[in-house]
Amino acid sequence: MPVPPIEPENTETPHVPVLLDPIMDRISPVSGVWLDGTFGAGGYARAIMDAGAERLIGVDRDPEALERAAVWAGEYGDRLQLVSGCFGDLDKIAGAGTLDGVVLDIGVSSMQIDQAERGFSFMKDGPLDMRMGQSGLSAAGIVNKAPEKLLADILFQFGEERASRKIAKAIVMDRKIKPFETTRQLAGMLERIMPRPKPGQPHAATRSFQALRIVVNDELGELARGLAAAEVALKEGGLLVVVTFHSLEDRMVKRFMQERSGAGPKGSRFTPIDEAIEPAFTKITRKAVVGEEAEILANPRARSAKLRISRRTASAADTLNPKDIGMPYLDITKGAWM
Ligand SMILES: C[S@@+](CC[C@H](N)C(=O)[O-])C[C@H]1O[C@@H](n2cnc3c(N)ncnc32)[C@H](O)[C@@H]1O
Repeated sequence: MPVPPIEPENTETPHVPVLLDPIMDRISPVSGVWLDGTFGAGGYARAIMDAGAERLIGVDRDPEALERAAVWAGEYGDRLQLVSGCFGDLDKIAGAGTLDGVVLDIGVSSMQIDQAERGFSFMKDGPLDMRMGQSGLSAAGIVNKAPEKLLADILFQFGEERASRKIAKAIVMDRKIKPFETTRQLAGMLERIMPRPKPGQPHAATRSFQALRIVVNDELGELARGLAAAEVALKEGGLLVVVTFHSLEDRMVKRFMQERSGAGPKGSRFTPIDEAIEPAFTKITRKAVVGEEAEILANPRARSAKLRISRRTASAADTLNPKDIGMPYLDITKGAWM
């Protein structure tokens, strides 16, 4: 008897926007032109348009995110403009001094995680890819080719992985026998060499997968460019709303908002020591806003989310040195291995 074809199982969970209520509480009433630099499933974008934004530019580097929106985007007519691109270029996309609000919800969407073939999840077997924009160097490209020292540095700097050297050594040994092609192959190796996590501790692969994803998509470089671009593109009074999901990103956003609001450490180049230099932002959230227990229970992605908001002042935009906001820097092109 012929074997019936196996239908691909639809295991995708819809993306539930995180911290949406605390955001809307703080930005309402909404008006003018907004840019959502991480459009994803459009959860924030719809809420902002429904709350009164006249127009919204939705940017995503993942072409699939924008394709999915085609089903409902028509409801908003000319008010919604979708742009395929990176939020690091948002000033070029929108123009200087044109925006009343910028929202960034950094990271990957549930759809991207749930699609095994995108290679973001160590829980699902798929190609070791992790490219949000679906072009450029993949995670497998790094794991199979990068020199051992660079691999260790990547895992340490971008995954805060203390066992970085041990993992890099094991990768280099294993890849001589068989190159890494799949997520489960790498996750299985990590499960084998790392101590079994205690209850409440993250999976053995969590930090390494985070580090690879950050490098593959230059996520921290994008964040630094996006923050500086928002300073250029926001009008006086415009709001910068940023949600992050891990400490490296939150540290950068926190320091950016501190430095640019004149609250940085004494002697910093952004501190308005000279009274004539006005800060570019004033902080709306004094501390990071985190999810309430009910939201975290309903949506585990909200567990590590942190929200920070600042308001643009009238002062001119300045250039940003990513090191000044604590961006870890690693020259991954060194050693000509790519
Ligand atoms: C966490 S999801 C955003 C979900 C969205 N807030 C919602 O409510 O549906 C992040 C999205 O941002 C996109 N993204 C991540 N980094 C980006 C970047 N640098 N430029 C543009 N899009 C980016 C990802 O492709 C993903 O679709």
